Amino acid sequence: MNAPVMQGLTLQAPDYVKNPKLIAWVAEMAALCKPAKIHWCDGSQAEYDALCQELVDAGTFKPLAKRPGSFLAWTDPSDVARVEDRTYICSAKKEDAGPTNNWMEPAEMRATLNPLFDGCMAGRTMFVVPFSMGPLGSPIAHVGIELSDSPYVAVNMKIMTRMGKAVYDVIGTDGEFVPCVHTIGAPLAAGEKDETTWPCSKTKYIVHYPETREIWSYGSGYGGNALLGKKCFALRIASTMGRDQGWLAEHMLILGVTNPEGKKYHVAAAFPSACGKTNFSMLVPPKAFDGWKVTTIGDDIAWIKPQADGSLRAINPEAGYFGVAPGTNMLTNPNCMLSLDKNVIFTNVALTDDGDVWWEGMEKDQGKLPDHLIDWQGKDWTPQIAKETGAKAAHPNARFTVAATNNPALDEAWDDQKGVKIDAIIFGGRRSTTVPLVTEARNWTEGVYMAATMGSETTAAAFGAQGVVRRDPFAMLPFAGYNMSDYFQHWLDMGAKIEAQGAALPKIFTTNWFRKNAEGKFVWPGYGENMRVLKWMIDRLEGQAQGEETAFGVAPQYAEINWNGLDFNAEQFASVTNIDKAAWAEEMKLHGEHFDKLAYNLPKALLDTKAQLEERLAA
Ligand code: OXD
Ligand code: MN
Repeated sequence: MNAPVMQGLTLQAPDYVKNPKLIAWVAEMAALCKPAKIHWCDGSQAEYDALCQELVDAGTFKPLAKRPGSFLAWTDPSDVARVEDRTYICSAKKEDAGPTNNWMEPAEMRATLNPLFDGCMAGRTMFVVPFSMGPLGSPIAHVGIELSDSPYVAVNMKIMTRMGKAVYDVIGTDGEFVPCVHTIGAPLAAGEKDETTWPCSKTKYIVHYPETREIWSYGSGYGGNALLGKKCFALRIASTMGRDQGWLAEHMLILGVTNPEGKKYHVAAAFPSACGKTNFSMLVPPKAFDGWKVTTIGDDIAWIKPQADGSLRAINPEAGYFGVAPGTNMLTNPNCMLSLDKNVIFTNVALTDDGDVWWEGMEKDQGKLPDHLIDWQGKDWTPQIAKETGAKAAHPNARFTVAATNNPALDEAWDDQKGVKIDAIIFGGRRSTTVPLVTEARNWTEGVYMAATMGSETTAAAFGAQGVVRRDPFAMLPFAGYNMSDYFQHWLDMGAKIEAQGAALPKIFTTNWFRKNAEGKFVWPGYGENMRVLKWMIDRLEGQAQGEETAFGVAPQYAEINWNGLDFNAEQFASVTNIDKAAWAEEMKLHGEHFDKLAYNLPKALLDTKAQLEERLAA
């Protein structure tokens, strides 16, 4: 199609784009956003290389001499994380967005956004980015089209999704797609801009219309706000699709764990942002676990669909990792470090004098701090400056974007259209007190209760104060695209349906790697040592560990954990597993307050479970 959209701009859709609805929508958006040019992305390597070169020429990307095919971008200091207070769920009814989401009436939001989008791409190219979330053509996958005026977004989407021409075969002439529009908006005014070339606006809106399954994002170039396949589609919009169609879109990694006899299990695990999901998904078992293997299917998001036999099969809708760099090193995540040797886009890490990248935590590998760096804001950094001013070389939420295929621990089924069968589900919070290292829910409802009341100390992945405990149900607080209590009910309904079929549900576990001692130090060593806990879960699946009933689920006995190669005595174990009754009395009050806030449509089953837990605690 070669239709004029407006004066001087023709649509020129490639002939392999055969969906009239899609072409009409691109024309409509082009007429609104008024770009100078339209570029239909084909997803080829040549296109990726040309766009990276364009970003280098514009000063947004610095090529990295030490890492082939890799680049560094520094964002504006105002554009370093997801902006939860600017993120909206615009359902027709306020109750459907629920008390945990910002809401605006859809017509009002459209009236707000239309003038902002009018002419927002003037002088820029509008990229038409076709992408599949999940293996192309998989019955669990869904596709989207993102329109963006950011070449940074186009190249990141190439890594993070299955992006390119083949998506149009899936869409065909009348297939469904989720329309996503993104603009960096009106650039910051000269005085507000620092020396970096990062384009973004002061005004930001990350908007979802669940009923019409549309995403509109204005003003930010940061990953979670701008790569619309990720949080916006794969979690917020997909969770509403899951509610309507009977499946789950979750903030979960997926891993495979194979025992020395070759028997394999699949585990999905939800942790809040920046709490070690990528590390856990790439875990290297300690030496004492010779013959055990952990392989990655996904590190952040899982789409889980029930099958005719009652099993739950999951895919990772993404094709790459947009992970937090600081803290990553050969001790905490060797597979990740090995993934980052080539073809990586780094955002907001520091630059070394010899053209490599650096972030806090790398000194553990290198034995010392570097003498000199350019920090993520383009300023000189030395250990002395850091000591005097506390300046971080890398932003705490600095990221890498890398293809899953770079991961040496990639699971052979990671791209399997059928997905993998989920055997266990973990919900992990970040709590320095109260919540034990690991427990198993006695049944699905208790597991849903545990997930619904998860608390976590906040991290740098979102703007706002860090280290404050907030309830983060299912690690989905910023990502559930609808009323949280309806979301709990959906989980309960899914479980009930599968049980009614006579099929076995996955076991549900909770973990907390983050308990601290009186000196404020983490007690549990974490990282690869988490294998010890994972093995206990597998033993439970196999009926080989008896466990111990506690008020808050079934916990391991000290002797049931394999301690080979780790000096961790029974006393230390008790300090990360004990249930402090006074702390739990306080905790249950907080659960009550949390439920009060979610009272509209809160499932009664959760209040009943709360009463049962209180009875156990009182016993
Ligand atoms: C992420 C996040 O980027 O959770 O994965 O913030
Ligand atoms: Mn995440």
